[in-house]
Amino acid sequence: MAEPCTDAQALCASGELLERGQGIVFDVMLWRAPARAFALRFEGKVVAYMNRCAHVPSEMDWQVGQFLDMDKRWILCSVHGAAYEPADGQCVGGPCGRGRLMPIPTEEREGMVYWYPSRDIQPVVFDDVGPGDGATPESRS
Ligand code: FES
Repeated sequence: MAEPCTDAQALCASGELLERGQGIVFDVMLWRAPARAFALRFEGKVVAYMNRCAHVPSEMDWQVGQFLDMDKRWILCSVHGAAYEPADGQCVGGPCGRGRLMPIPTEEREGMVYWYPSRDIQPVVFDDVGPGDGATPESRS
């Protein structure tokens, strides 16, 4: 079996993540199943978590990329209202109890944001291209 990927994965330009602004949602493989994660900027730092509530494992955003409450203080799950501390993903109220969001390490350098895979959270590999031709369905016709 192939070793898990640990290489930095480019996510977006730093300028795309505004302080307490909209999050960027991205696809990953969690325990080898497709899942979504998100990144946002809070108190100047980029944080990223699995988009997966600690109460029930469902996605949390109100609309795609909208994770923060109206005051832009807490990450709020749109399903039953669990609140999380954006800085560390710890549950601070609601039905998530003592749970926390699954963190994803990030790094910001030279104007870009990167995330780092782990054993559990891997990048999506797009391997459905035809045998070696690199062609897209459009370019074949
Ligand atoms: S699923 Fe998030 S609070 Fe219930």
